[in-house]
Formats: sequence, structure tokens, C-alpha cells
Amino acid sequence: MSVLVLGGAGYIGSHTVDRLVEAGKDVVVVDSLVTGHLAAVRKEAKFYQGDLADKDFMRKVFTENPDIDAVIHFAAFSLVAESMKDPLKYFDNNTAGMVKLLEVMNEFDIKYIVFSSTAATYGIPEKMPIYEDDPQLPINPYGESKLMMEKIMRWADEAYGIKFVALRYFNVAGAKPDGSIGEDHHPETHLLPIVLQVAMGEREKLQIFGDDYNTPDGTNVRDYVHPFDLADAHILAVDYLRNGNESSAFNLGSSTGFSNLEIVKAAREVTGKEIPAEIATRRGGDPDTLIAASEKARKVLGWKPEFDDIHKIIETAWKWHTTHPQGYND
Ligand code: UFG
Repeated sequence: MSVLVLGGAGYIGSHTVDRLVEAGKDVVVVDSLVTGHLAAVRKEAKFYQGDLADKDFMRKVFTENPDIDAVIHFAAFSLVAESMKDPLKYFDNNTAGMVKLLEVMNEFDIKYIVFSSTAATYGIPEKMPIYEDDPQLPINPYGESKLMMEKIMRWADEAYGIKFVALRYFNVAGAKPDGSIGEDHHPETHLLPIVLQVAMGEREKLQIFGDDYNTPDGTNVRDYVHPFDLADAHILAVDYLRNGNESSAFNLGSSTGFSNLEIVKAAREVTGKEIPAEIATRRGGDPDTLIAASEKARKVLGWKPEFDDIHKIIETAWKWHTTHPQGYND
């Protein structure tokens, strides 16, 4: 049996491929390399460059790799601000891409899919922490595109028996502890990489988007999870499906929140750098607080996150950034 990883050259995909290879699994990777990096993919994995919405290309991948019985799907666009400006790009690439993928999976009788969903499907939650059966009312096209993908998988399960696990990530941060793979986005919009770019002197200062939110220090609170812990949840989710369990959704977070100011403070402690920061105006669409209730993943999947300390997460990201100041440079 082998696993097909779609988007395996991306940030979370490449960490998952690394963990699968380390666990001795057979891995096939598909990535368009639009945002991914070939250098991030373990050489032990069989790599195909292409678009999952290209059905003939996907037929070729499944035909050449008849051992594939499960798909892990990371291949989606994920920038909230971009999705507000160009929603159709998200509904085309993310949502329509899912329809085509499931059609080909059904042709080849592939019955298991583990899918990267997001806390953005919950919109502005009424209470914290967020549970899996809380209302899903996204406030941006990115979250909507992923919620639609979850719903499409549900009906594909009813009709064709394709079982799915939707993993709803909270805020992902950190890198492989040896610093060999990490986060490399162009443009970079996420808090921790930007904080570390300031620490490296690549940016002059950090802008903290708003300090008048309804949180203890006024800045947004987020729940950070390491990509290796996410990777392990995906591997457990594949086993869960192979063991004949029903389709389900799980939150993946640490169940602890850190404010943006707390992240900057922790990054100053880890790096020993000053990290100049100023308060700027709010960025549109940021909920006050997002914290996951992730007991379900722990209980049902047996998920045990190892990176439960924000300092440890930042240390791994710092190692990647200091050893790869230009990222993969590809
Ligand atoms: N922030 C700043 N300055 C920056 C960048 C970010 O203050 O230069 C703030 C944001 O306003 C927010 C926090 O840092 O308060 C975290 O922002 P990120 O962009 O790092 O992450 P988001 O919480 O916006 O989004 C992430 C993923 C989404 C996912 C969401 C769900 O990027 O895909 O988590 O929790 F939907």
C-alpha cells in the first residue's frame, strides 16, 4: 500500500512526506510547484509535477502506481487576503479541483482521503475553545472554499463510499528540528516567519495588526501547532480510515492560545534579538481569538502532539530561517 500526497512540496505537505518516509512508508508526491519547492521533497518519494485538476495527468499517476489506496490532500491556495480579492481563483483551484480529484479517485476505486481543512471554516466563533460540531460560517472565500470541499467529500462518501477525514488546522508554525525543511512563502504573510525575518534584519520592523481586540492584551490570540505534529495526525488519519472507520472531522491545535504580543516576546527570548515592533491598524477579517478543542483527535486518532511549548516551536523555525535566509532559493 502506498500513500499519494498532493501538495507534498508545500510547507505542511513536505513535513508530512518527511515523516512518512521516516516511518518507512511508500510515498508518491504530486505537486504543481506553483507554491511548493522541489528541494523540500524527500528523494525517497516518487515525485510527479502536475495539477490535480488535470484528470488525464491524475489517471497516469494512479495507473503507474496501483498500490496507492489513500490520498492526503494539501494542494490548495491558502491566503485569506488574496481570496477576498480573487474568490473565483479559490473556488476554481480548491473547490472545483476537489470535484475532479474525487471523480478520478472513484474511477480508480481509491476509497480514502485525508484533507487539509482549516479553522477558517468556523468564521467568527461564538465561544472558545472551538469544537468540531460548532457552527461553520466562514467569513472569507478561502474558508468557504474549504468548507465546500468538506461538504463535497461528505456527499461523495454517501454516493461512492469514499471515506474522508477532514483535519481542521489552527495556526501552523515551526520547521523540522534539524533545519533542513521549513516555511518558504512568497509573499510571506504569516506572523512567525515575519517576526523572524525582522529578527534576522531582513525587515526593519514588525507591524502588529491591532491592539484593540477583545483579548487580555488587545492583540489577537491564536493556537499554534507544529507541522510535525500535523504530519503525525495525517498518518494516524490514514490508519483510521484503513481500519474501516467512518468519515469524520478533527480540529488540530494545541488547545493553548498566544497573543501576537506574546509571540513577539517569546521570539525575542529564543533569538536574543530586539525585534522592533509597532502597533498598526487592524487587518480585515481577523477574529479576536481562535483556540481549538482538540480532544477528539487525541481520543479517536490517538494523536499526541510533541511540540507543546511555543518556545520549542519558535526554536525550530529560527533554525530553518538562520540556515536558509533565502528559503529554498529556487
Ligand atoms: N499579524 C500581524 N502582523 C503581521 C502578520 C500577522 O500582526 O505582519 C497577526 C494577524 O493579524 C493575526 C496573527 O498575526 O492576528 C496571525 O496571523 P497569520 O497571518 O499568521 O495567521 P492567521 O491567523 O491569519 O491565519 C492562519 C492561516 C489560515 C487559517 C487560519 C486559521 O494562515 O490559513 O490560520 O486559524 F485559516
